[in-house]
Amino acid sequence: MKAIRNVGSYLFGPGALGRLEEVLRGDPRVPAGPVVYLVDHFFAGFTAPLAKLPQRPLDRLIFMDTTHEPSTDQVDQVAARVRADFSDLGGLPGVIVGMGGGATLDMAKAVSNLLTNGGQAADYQGWDLVKVPGVYKIGVPTLSGTGSETSRTCVLTNYQTGVKLGMNSDFSVFDQLILDPDLTATVPREQYFHTGLDTYFHCMETLNGRARNGIVDAYSEKAIDLCRQVFLQGDMQDQSSRENMMIASLMGGAAAGNTGLVHPLSAGLSVVLGVHHGLANCLAMGPLAEFYPPEHAEFLAMAQAQGIKLPTGLGADLSDEQIGKLYASSIVHAKPLGNHLGEGFRDILTPARMAALFRAM
Ligand SMILES: [Fe+2]
Repeated sequence: MKAIRNVGSYLFGPGALGRLEEVLRGDPRVPAGPVVYLVDHFFAGFTAPLAKLPQRPLDRLIFMDTTHEPSTDQVDQVAARVRADFSDLGGLPGVIVGMGGGATLDMAKAVSNLLTNGGQAADYQGWDLVKVPGVYKIGVPTLSGTGSETSRTCVLTNYQTGVKLGMNSDFSVFDQLILDPDLTATVPREQYFHTGLDTYFHCMETLNGRARNGIVDAYSEKAIDLCRQVFLQGDMQDQSSRENMMIASLMGGAAAGNTGLVHPLSAGLSVVLGVHHGLANCLAMGPLAEFYPPEHAEFLAMAQAQGIKLPTGLGADLSDEQIGKLYASSIVHAKPLGNHLGEGFRDILTPARMAALFRAM
């Protein structure tokens, strides 16, 4: 049994981003030093949300390149830049505000941890390796589904070692969140769907798993219920659906239970082929109907209801070498695979069986 740490406080509602200045200047819990805004590069072309960031002369805004999944190198580089910019303050700003999707939020959490703990991002990939609290961090999600805003991890890929692993730590939890559903109105529809489904997969994998916890189950069940409202009833991106999706993502991240089969296969696709997490999950779910019969049918119904065409044909072009790498980078995720299939998961997911699954994507 382990104590659960949750986000300190959050502000939720349309227009919430407009209250950021009040949070930064009026909340006694927020340190007074300069603010570093780490913002998804997607927003470089949108002046309206950026204009709502209350920047002062000593603050910095750094756009985060989210073309690829976040890497340990990228986190090292951003942390080095922040240290250099604030060298006269011991390399530390007062606050980090991460604004973007899961990739940006994860990088903001990792940079925050790294600034106070020193060393390199790869040193902290694993469980409870972060030693001291990071720089005070505020998250502003602009895409719902990853649960990064409430989770205690920040997933990074080390492209040198092929390891995709988070800094799982209580110190990876945001201190505050600004949850503004207006910000998810401009997300491209496919991306909105793929990312939203991440919550659905996290929660249904948890509920189908062996390691269970009553609080996690309750969060997961409610998050799935909200996903059904979002994706099976009306337009997934209208005002009330965006609000519901933001709540579902929040609950899914707070649940952050052990996953099952979708996430390990998805991780393989991200590490080997560079497929983004949300899309990779949808691809991974494709051949898993036999493992998750009702959820697979519901997933297809959700895509159909929202007019989303799910990609097919990826598996047909994979070389034997790629299949070998996909197997290796999926089967390493023993905890979630065992959570669904038990300790003998390697006897069920043999290299041949896994090859067939990847070829069917
Ligand atoms: Fe996920």
